[in-house]
Amino acid sequence: MPDIPVAVTRRDHLYMIRIGSYLGDALRSVVEAALGASDHIVVADARVAALHGLEAVFAATPKWRHIEIEAGEWRKNAADYIALCERLLALGMDRQTVLVAIGGGVTGDLVGFAAATLLRGVRVVQIPTTLLAQMDSSVGGKTGVNMAGGKNLLGAFHQPDLVVVDPAFLRTLPEREYTAGLAETVKYGILGDKDFFFRLLEDAGRLFTRDADALAAAIERSCRLKAGIIGEDELESGRRRLLNLGHTFGHAVEALAGCDGAILHGEAVSVGMAMAARFSEKQGHLHADGADAIESGLARLRLPRRLDDLAAVAGDAIVGALRRRLTTDELPEALGKDKKAAKRGLTLVLPFGIGDCRSVEGIPVAEAAAFMRDFAHCE
Ligand SMILES: NC(=O)c1ccc[n+]([C@@H]2O[C@H](COP(=O)([O-])OP(=O)(O)OC[C@H]3O[C@@H](n4cnc5c(N)ncnc54)[C@H](O)[C@@H]3O)[C@@H](O)[C@H]2O)c1
Repeated sequence: MPDIPVAVTRRDHLYMIRIGSYLGDALRSVVEAALGASDHIVVADARVAALHGLEAVFAATPKWRHIEIEAGEWRKNAADYIALCERLLALGMDRQTVLVAIGGGVTGDLVGFAAATLLRGVRVVQIPTTLLAQMDSSVGGKTGVNMAGGKNLLGAFHQPDLVVVDPAFLRTLPEREYTAGLAETVKYGILGDKDFFFRLLEDAGRLFTRDADALAAAIERSCRLKAGIIGEDELESGRRRLLNLGHTFGHAVEALAGCDGAILHGEAVSVGMAMAARFSEKQGHLHADGADAIESGLARLRLPRRLDDLAAVAGDAIVGALRRRLTTDELPEALGKDKKAAKRGLTLVLPFGIGDCRSVEGIPVAEAAAFMRDFAHCE
């Protein structure tokens, strides 16, 4: 299976995404061969560690230490970040220590942020174990935690030194998490690769059964698209913004639902992409056929498009409360507090066609909020 180089030109930093079969002892050797360090601390999602026998893998040698954390969106906060840093310091880590994050996007973002900030920065390896993390969050160096005001408000850019992707981890991923991960995959098709979008829809049946070849192909294409964008624009001053397709609306949905994982990130992004498509149509940038195709693509992959779809997975009580909060001032606050919001209006990534997304600046927060309210009631 392939190695995908990620060359971050701004910092002259090059790292590899290695996609292959590494579960077991090979997890140690692939990291040692790439980084040559003598001290590693694995921070693993406790559930993943139990399901895949990770403690035994890393107990074999004193060069490796292993700790576990609980994952889930509600653990991605400042208190858990500080607690993790204290644990790592108590283990006597120094600037030569390599941190190894094993888990989904929450573990990756949390451990990545600890690596960015502890001792003014140490090396980090990402070993993602959810579909979302394998296709998206482990690559690109965005790290951070949520604050009361919204998602990822405390964070840093800190590129990993290696990303190791083994699709075999996905065998144990719960169905809902797996499906939500497909949202970030289809995002790559919508934002920059029309053929990939339609190939994903053709492969939907194989993806639902977690067919290894279909998964490896989808992960590879997503990682290549992301690596190309990150290499050019690490700090999101231009093209990288496109990766936020569906995220401004999606983050507002997540924030108003409580940022506690009741609605999964991928589910919120999926609804956010449907909103972005319809908003783009309303603004005259996207033909109705394009918006229909995006929505039916999401439906083909069993992804939510409307709040009713979210209610089917998260429950009526959660979505009922979300609907109520959408009608209050909390909505413009959630949209306006999004860290990507410029002072003079929102910058939204909108599809102009499948495979052709653009950043549109200066959209008044009130206009986006009014649109979201209409959309939320248009079922
Ligand atoms: N840094 C980035 O560029 C970036 C990009 C997209 C999303 N994100 C972030 O990623 C987070 C979501 O990530 P996520 O969906 O992976 O969530 P997660 O890390 O909370 O994992 C979801 C659940 O799956 C479990 N799990 C993980 N791997 C498993 C496996 N192999 N088998 C069984 N269970 C497993 C976890 O314990 C957890 O309960 C959000 O906080 C989002 O903001 C970051």
